[in-house]
Amino acid sequence: MIALGIEGTAHSLGVGIVTKENGKCRVLSNVIKMHRPAEGGIHPREAANHHAEQAPLVLAEAVEKAGISLSEVDLVSFSQGPGLGPCLRTAATAARALAVSLGKPIIGVNHCVAHIEIGCGVTDCTDPILLYASGANTQIIAFTNGKYRVFGETLDIGIGNCLDKFARDHGIPFPGGPEIEKLARAGRKYLELPYSVKGMDLAFSGILSSAAQYIKRGETVEDVCYSIQETTFAMLTEVAERAMAHTEKNEILLGGGVACNARLQEMVNIMARERGAQAYVPPKPLCVDNGAMIGWMGIVMHEAGVRMSLAETTVNQRYRTDDVHVTWRSG
Ligand code: ATP
Ligand code: FE2
Repeated sequence: MIALGIEGTAHSLGVGIVTKENGKCRVLSNVIKMHRPAEGGIHPREAANHHAEQAPLVLAEAVEKAGISLSEVDLVSFSQGPGLGPCLRTAATAARALAVSLGKPIIGVNHCVAHIEIGCGVTDCTDPILLYASGANTQIIAFTNGKYRVFGETLDIGIGNCLDKFARDHGIPFPGGPEIEKLARAGRKYLELPYSVKGMDLAFSGILSSAAQYIKRGETVEDVCYSIQETTFAMLTEVAERAMAHTEKNEILLGGGVACNARLQEMVNIMARERGAQAYVPPKPLCVDNGAMIGWMGIVMHEAGVRMSLAETTVNQRYRTDDVHVTWRSG
């Protein structure tokens, strides 16, 4: 089966074409076009216009790179939520139009769950704790009793938005995460920032205000970036470790754009090693928002017998991870 997945929850429009080979996901193509606002944050309507303009081009490029013809696609899937309404509706419209014109089934998938399943699809992990660290989302997720449960999450902004906002306020280009990672490498001095772990939940906005104060007081951007990373990543690692202990799982999977960060990967690796557990990170293009993970999720669900009528493909901006009925895993 060849699945074509369309991702469009936020600033990125992605089309990925995947298939299943020896039980694993084989990515045939994975094209991502990111909307970068000239200034300020993301405006949902502008991002949606970007997706509408780019959709035919990204689709054509994905098909060409996969070396297939559109008629060979067996299934169309798309990100049904959570995300920004106008962006979700644009991606869903593209998916419906494609599925109807090809006469092929369509499946709407949960974006957060797709981050987990692609990790299991391309690495050796089978039943991990997912540390999902992206722009808008920061969640610790694990499968127990028939559902993916959220064990902990941010109480305010996502970790990636925290990094991007600090960057934007200090003249560092968007997306801020990768730039902060580079600057942090030159940082030497640790500056104390609010370490906000509340039970299994996290908060980042206090860190933002504190970090801005340090800059005002003349501390270097490098030291502040270093301190932001050390503090926020330690918070993420702590909560992930506690979730592993509670659930007695011995695999941890990273997902989301912030998972690309080498320092976060290092901390999580050390934590896993010390517990005798294993850490997994998918390749970068599969960590960030992408169409391949949506395509793969479509295959997983279709194989489990999931079918959707067009009427069931309405988007859900607040589609929660634990709203998904997981029929493809046991336990
Ligand atoms: P969501 O899944 O919540 O819709 P998103 O739309 O922001 O997230 P992603 O592509 O998963 O999409 O993540 C983007 C985020 O990842 C941005 O905030 C960006 O700054 C951050 N990021 C990317 N690379 C790195 C890195 N090397 N270090 C830290 N953060 C990074
Ligand atoms: Fe995401």
